[in-house]
Amino acid sequence: MRLDVSKTTPYKLWRLALRCWLLGACLGSQAAPFEDTMAQRTLACTSCHGPQGRSGPDGYYPRLAGKPAGYLYNQLVNLQQGQRNYPLMQSLLAPLDDAYLRTLAEYFAGLEIPYPPPAPQPTDKALLARGLQLVRQGDPALQIPACMQCHGSALTGTQPSVPGLLGLPRDYLNAQLGGWKNGQRQAQAPDCMADIAKRLSDADVHALSSWLSSQNVPQVSRAAAQKPPLAPGAKEIRCGSAPW
Ligand code: HEC
Ligand code: HEC
Repeated sequence: MRLDVSKTTPYKLWRLALRCWLLGACLGSQAAPFEDTMAQRTLACTSCHGPQGRSGPDGYYPRLAGKPAGYLYNQLVNLQQGQRNYPLMQSLLAPLDDAYLRTLAEYFAGLEIPYPPPAPQPTDKALLARGLQLVRQGDPALQIPACMQCHGSALTGTQPSVPGLLGLPRDYLNAQLGGWKNGQRQAQAPDCMADIAKRLSDADVHALSSWLSSQNVPQVSRAAAQKPPLAPGAKEIRCGSAPW
């Protein structure tokens, strides 16, 4: 028989404590003085996402700091409603209203924190060359658009709701593209990323995640104000989560 951790008392207490922090509901019930700042309220979040949301230590918990606010907000809604599947976050977000989700998104979007250098990656030249080709040009024969078409020519994202693709761990990138391929991750329809991911072979996912995670993040890591002009011959593609 498997133990269902979600029914154990320590787990329930842990969840309660996290909600208490987050909602500032511990005020008054604390022996030590409690400063009601967003940094304090978001300790529940940064316990997984790293101090100031700069990403977790184990190569999986994604960075939140400095990502476009619209993107972070969309993800909080998707995680709360199960279009992205991560039960620990779903239960933590369940009691939070829409206005609070926006406040959280704007708080993390506003943090400007330098990125660490990328972790060492395999040096398989052919693999990295394929990754770069897909990022810059896509593969018209397979109907794969260039990633830069929407994620920006510096790959730092596009305001208000397309995230950057640099500074993300390889395992995280693999999991997200895999999630779109198998339906575990969904975005608002038309879900352009699901269509794109389904056209990527496993080898192409590997090439993309290897190249992307081996790049330095540019000094100016803010998302671009606008999408770059469409490359000659490229097709406009609509995304429900990024109505340009
Ligand atoms: C128990 C650990 C944990 C806690 C606590 C947690 N998160 Fe997460 N969060 C994750 C993981 C793991 C993912 C990636 C899920 C996936 O694979 O789709 C994630 C994803 C996210 C994303 C999407 C990021 C992206 O780039 O797409 C946002 C936004 C987010 N979390 C915000 C928060 C906020 C705000 C809080 C506090 C209210 C919080 N998280 C608390 C583990 C956690
Ligand atoms: C037509 C526009 C478009 C193109 C082209 C595109 N993307 Fe995206 N991508 C998006 C949008 C919009 C989102 C945000 C989806 C959401 O809200 O969940 C996104 C999100 C992502 C994410 C999630 C990042 C995170 O922090 O969780 C990854 C990974 C990603 N795209 C990879 C790629 C790769 C690799 C390519 C090139 C093969 C690509 N995208 C091409 C629009 C695009």
